[in-house]
Amino acid sequence: MIYGGKWDRDGLDYKALRNRWHVVARVDEVRDGTPLPVRLLGEDLVLWRSPTGINAWKDYCGHRGAKLSLGCVRNGEIECPYHGWRYSESGQCVKVPAHPDHEPPQQRLVYPHRVTERYGLVWVSLGQPEGDVPAFPEWDDQSFRKVYAGPYRYRANALRSVENFLDASHFPFVHANLNGDPENPDSIADYEVFKGPQGLTTSEISVFQPYGDHRGIPVTARYTYHVFQPTTAYFTKKTGVTERFCTFLNATPADEDEAVLYLIVAINFGADLTEEQILSRQDRVFEQDRRIVESQRPYRLPLDLREEMHVRSDRLAVEYRRWLRALGEAALAVNTTTITIQPAPADSSRSTSYA
Ligand code: FES
Ligand SMILES: [Fe+2]
Repeated sequence: MIYGGKWDRDGLDYKALRNRWHVVARVDEVRDGTPLPVRLLGEDLVLWRSPTGINAWKDYCGHRGAKLSLGCVRNGEIECPYHGWRYSESGQCVKVPAHPDHEPPQQRLVYPHRVTERYGLVWVSLGQPEGDVPAFPEWDDQSFRKVYAGPYRYRANALRSVENFLDASHFPFVHANLNGDPENPDSIADYEVFKGPQGLTTSEISVFQPYGDHRGIPVTARYTYHVFQPTTAYFTKKTGVTERFCTFLNATPADEDEAVLYLIVAINFGADLTEEQILSRQDRVFEQDRRIVESQRPYRLPLDLREEMHVRSDRLAVEYRRWLRALGEAALAVNTTTITIQPAPADSSRSTSYA
């Protein structure tokens, strides 16, 4: 095995995540000439820029297993730090400096993954995603100002952190006097959860918030939540007649117990608010959530509903767990039916002779 990760790869949660798109960096973090190491689902990856865009490969060189992220990018090719072998963006080895007069080996020595850039973020899939990256409803709407927040690094499971994002009944306690009043917590009225090709959507959930958005004013906030894929969630929050506060969250499962939360906030009010004012509220809220989510055990989100207690206000969380379980089972069924054992070729040696 090339990589050691902590993930239980037979788990339904892992199965539900593998064929999805995950955010691994902001596009501007991937600089010319410098490979960037990132981690996804217990695997080390390297991001690097070539003439046609960003590449996402396993952080591994098939010569002696060194990490490519310790190397550099020269003339649009990535150079391994150990013996200087160079690879083109197609994954072909194009140079073995110790043997300049010989043809470089043709064997597969590097492992590219699917990668795409969207919303200023780098998205990677370790498997075969069924569709495109999720739509961010306000991205092309010029009446909404967009602000990047985070990434927030939690020593916690990504699915636990998404469920926390979808939870309205924690506001008065975790975000006391900000998103709720601890002396007078809202009773959560029953709401609907709809399931469709675009994931989960709720009807409106209404709560009182003493400091409900970046303006620092009391509001009655009406939330509509969406879950587009297991680690991409979104809400639009109405805090006035026309004011909308939207958040597009991507919780990257770096490891079973390590999540990286990338946020884009979209608001159509407060033109006079500075970016610092907006970020300070976001940072405060996600720091408050961090201590709770990091405390949750087991780390992994239980997909068997009998393992934790649920009440009516947890309906979205219950549907989220059911949906994840169904996605994991569907992925498992596909894997089970398509696995074929390939016989080893007669000469399975990967060596190249330079005699
Ligand atoms: S390990 Fe990469 S060139 Fe030798
Ligand atoms: Fe929260």
